[in-house]
Amino acid sequence: MTSASREDDLAECVTTIRAMLTECGQEHLLAFADELTPDELKQLIEQVESIDVPNAVRLVEKARTTSIEPPPSDQIRPASFVSRVPDHAESIRAAGQALIDEGKVAAFTVAGGQGTRLGWNGPKGTFPATPLTGKPLFRVFAEQLAAHARRSGHSIPWYIMTSPINDADTRAFFRDNNWFGLDRTDVFMFPQGVLPSFDEEGRFLLASKSEIAVNPDGHGGALRALRASGAVEDMRARGIEQISYFQVDNPTVQVLDPLFIGLHATNPESSGEMSSKMVRKRDAGEKVGVFCVTDDRTCVIEYSDLPGELADAVDEQGELKFVAGSIAIHVLSVDFVDRVTSEGSGLAMPLHKASKKVPHVDLDSGQLIKPKTPNATKLEMFIFDAIPLADRSMVYETDRVEEFAPIKNAEGEDSADSSHQLQYQRATRWIEGAGGRIPRTEDGQPSCHVEITASTALDERDLAANTKLPKSFVAGQQYIL
Ligand code: UD1
Repeated sequence: MTSASREDDLAECVTTIRAMLTECGQEHLLAFADELTPDELKQLIEQVESIDVPNAVRLVEKARTTSIEPPPSDQIRPASFVSRVPDHAESIRAAGQALIDEGKVAAFTVAGGQGTRLGWNGPKGTFPATPLTGKPLFRVFAEQLAAHARRSGHSIPWYIMTSPINDADTRAFFRDNNWFGLDRTDVFMFPQGVLPSFDEEGRFLLASKSEIAVNPDGHGGALRALRASGAVEDMRARGIEQISYFQVDNPTVQVLDPLFIGLHATNPESSGEMSSKMVRKRDAGEKVGVFCVTDDRTCVIEYSDLPGELADAVDEQGELKFVAGSIAIHVLSVDFVDRVTSEGSGLAMPLHKASKKVPHVDLDSGQLIKPKTPNATKLEMFIFDAIPLADRSMVYETDRVEEFAPIKNAEGEDSADSSHQLQYQRATRWIEGAGGRIPRTEDGQPSCHVEITASTALDERDLAANTKLPKSFVAGQQYIL
């Protein structure tokens, strides 16, 4: 094809796209088309096509004209939950382990967030998370998966959702680390979808003259992305039936928990479609979503949306009534993901709005504006909004020290420091549970620091059964087991 005919093709494309954008009230996206090189123009056209502008406009209009109000307080009840260490735990754990051993369970990490609060320059999964060795989050999960693979005799597929913003960096990190020793054909990475950021009039913003400003569509976008990326198909081909879902920010998560998977598959409160883990909230103000029941359906109400009088309400014992804090760990069946995302299923996850500062090109001057106050809205979907779509949904109480030490902030609560303290606490607990003796200060605090690698033990039972502990632990020393 000659360059003249290529340019004719491009011009024709622009005409078609301009008509579509005009119809959608977004023709300004081509305001600088005449100034762009053919490559830049092509890039812009491709982005317009990939965004599916008419659909995005529909979503934006819906979000602008409706707001997601939590139901009135009198229609919200606390969700019931299965307490820790249920009766028959051994047989339930065995049922979950059997599913893992039969190769029916995959791990799934959502790692598309931007880690803005943490102030880390790179994908969050690359953040050094363990207290003594500084292992990055991705390595922590990979080591657990390798340990499970040894236990079950076969490798465990690992699906990782990135976003267009960090996909290349995430892939490079895995490559540079030789896929952490995992078989790379068992690591399936895919970027989540994006949605355009828009101004008060619902107009999409231009991040540059040839690029629309977009944001990742939230971890709720995982459902669509699992299907669109071919992950669901890949799971089917591998015989995967259940997906162990967790966020990238929690280094103590059990990437596969036989007991939880067993409960999900066998508990009468579970339909086997989508189950969740909770911990008791630390206090009324803790920034975690809360498991509730509205309309006879289990759901999560985000901390910012839970009416204050409910967040603060206590029972006769002085315990919070709405105590079940979401730690964003779920098991979802592949059938469930397939059902809610299949064509015609009409998957309609609520779109949550957030105001943000979006650098954009001014349409009159062509200059890039970096706003000091929020100038745009972004839309996101949340994974927990899928819970009410399940026929029945079980919530299981786990222990904070065992598996919730998230790293979200640069300092204070949910920071690397607070996570390290919880990781030390857990290691101490495991060692003492396994018969080891940890020296303590006068006020009862452990006076040595221990980090336990997943290849040594996946939990306290594993440590007790399979590890020869040092004869003694000495105050002031550090131990990497
Ligand atoms: C989240 C939950 C909260 C829960 C808490 C537990 C929401 C809105 N709130 O809060 O109910 O109690 O975790 O730790 O989720 N992510 C993506 N793509 C995106 C956005 C986020 O993959 O587009 C991933 C991030 O990489 C991260 C996770 O989702 O792994 C959490 O997202 P974040 O927005 O930080 O939620 P939190 O405020 O921490």
